[in-house]
Amino acid sequence: MNEGPALSILGLSKRYGRLEAVRDLSLFVARGEIYAFLGPNGAGKTTTLKTVAGLLHPEAGEIRVGGHPVLPDALEFRRCLGYVPDRPFLYEKLTGWEHLEFLARVHGLSGWQSRAEDLLALFRLTDWRHQLIEGYSHGMRQKLVITGALLHRPELLLVDEPMVGLDPRSARDMRALFLRLAGEGVGLFLSTHSLDLAAELAHRIGILHHGKLIAEGGFPHLQELAQQPESSLEQVFLRLTDEAGPDLFEGDSEGNP
Ligand SMILES: Nc1ncnc2c1ncn2[C@@H]1O[C@H](COP(=O)(O)OP(=O)(O)OP(=O)(O)O)[C@@H](O)[C@H]1O
Ligand SMILES: [Mg+2]
Repeated sequence: MNEGPALSILGLSKRYGRLEAVRDLSLFVARGEIYAFLGPNGAGKTTTLKTVAGLLHPEAGEIRVGGHPVLPDALEFRRCLGYVPDRPFLYEKLTGWEHLEFLARVHGLSGWQSRAEDLLALFRLTDWRHQLIEGYSHGMRQKLVITGALLHRPELLLVDEPMVGLDPRSARDMRALFLRLAGEGVGLFLSTHSLDLAAELAHRIGILHHGKLIAEGGFPHLQELAQQPESSLEQVFLRLTDEAGPDLFEGDSEGNP
């Protein structure tokens, strides 16, 4: 492995027409670090992840994955990156195993089978590996996609909403896997709405709001920033992302909305 962070983002800006989806974003994810990327709907998290994965071209900024610039066709870049999109595409008429075999070919891997078996067993998917993907449930698809993203042993794992649709046991398995990967030196950059996941696993948390990183650090640091030393991550998140506009859920003193 190279020295330096698993991911570095410097001065990233991305627009959709006139909308500034990500504004001058800078952050890094160290090797072995779990970084939880939080933010309200529409904050720009998915846009950031897609840009890191090389699927969107930013207006400004420098991104490096495992020290390599984002060049979707470059082998060094692709080898360093594992990416799980929020809505992954799968060929319904392949079996899970064929899907993994396809990815292994794309990455030119040899000896990937034992890694695949190991990850499938972890996710209790072994018995399903020769079934067509069209028969997989949502959570099974998610676990297959994560398995595929890890086959080539990336240095950075990007996951957009890892816990959506996972049953409690699978969610627990996923957490255990993330910790194991971090222990192996992989950097994890997780976009999530699961504050439990962030509070439990993340070494650092970043909060994106209207495309800007408004807070970053360990949980105690965020509590300090929100001036709420004893509060939960939910309270801290709500305080930091407060629009300072009318609170739609509470009437005024006369009970009017
Ligand atoms: N392809 C697109 N064309 C135009 N606008 C887009 C496009 N994709 C995203 N946006 C806009 O960019 C902003 C950021 O969207 P993004 O999907 O990155 O947010 P997010 O933080 O991932 O939200 P969520 O928590 O809902 O997943 C939003 O205002 C969204 O409407
Ligand atoms: Mg998103």
